[in-house]
Amino acid sequence: MKAISSRTDAAPPPPTHVAIIMDGNGRWAISRGLPRVAGHRQGAEAVRTAITSAVDLGVSYLTLYGFSVENWKRPKNEVTDLMGLLRLYLSREIAELDRQGVRIRFIGQRDRLAPDIVRLIDDAEGRTRTNTKLNLVVALSYGARQEITAAATALARRALAGEITPEEINEDSLAGHLETAGMPDPDLVIRTSGEKRVSNFLLWQLAYAEFVFTDTLWPDFSRDDLAEAINEFHRRERRFGATG
Ligand code: IPE
Ligand code: IPE
Ligand code: MG
Repeated sequence: MKAISSRTDAAPPPPTHVAIIMDGNGRWAISRGLPRVAGHRQGAEAVRTAITSAVDLGVSYLTLYGFSVENWKRPKNEVTDLMGLLRLYLSREIAELDRQGVRIRFIGQRDRLAPDIVRLIDDAEGRTRTNTKLNLVVALSYGARQEITAAATALARRALAGEITPEEINEDSLAGHLETAGMPDPDLVIRTSGEKRVSNFLLWQLAYAEFVFTDTLWPDFSRDDLAEAINEFHRRERRFGATG
């Protein structure tokens, strides 16, 4: 009897866009008897690992949720610590990200960030504009409801000015007025630390994303964790409303 040809399947292509809700820094620190800021500091290390791992694993877009609009409600000292770490990260890491071929962009309410941070962000975007190895999107002072509302306002203004008709307010034009205009929607969303909610992250863009929740706290998130989440993604059947 003729053996069935044993074709070794090529590895499936990685998801184009992976988005991560980086959660659990505080609990990581508290469980070690450390102040919460120590968790955020270790979380910044995990960001570095996630970026290089995403490049290695062939991901094209990596979006990281770093600070939500609602995170402004945290105690003043924690916000100060987080902004301090952000400053440090941006001033130290951009050259290396540029060297790795990473294009970095920021989404969120820029006008609520300190002017020197806005300058660092603008510089990072300008400096890495032509890089193509990985598109890194960092969500800072970001809220999806605020983003969608701003898009609606912009479209209403354009309609009022007679530039478009109300009928031209559609899925494409709305998506085109979001901060993620021109970017593919996330295929895979990962949330660390065992929480299972979206916390105002990319509500429009996640319409058909696959969700992977892991109990790993963000500061412990490794290349293997990312690879495992991608494997889980490959086991899913995406239907987009159609039949299988
Ligand atoms: C995620 O860790 C970082 C930010 C939201 C800025 P948390 O600070 O939310 O950590 P937990 O959830 O309290 O453990
Ligand atoms: C979501 O985490 C925001 C970021 C990871 C930046 P939170 O820890 O702020 O979310 P909730 O409050 O638990 O929903
Ligand atoms: Mg949290």
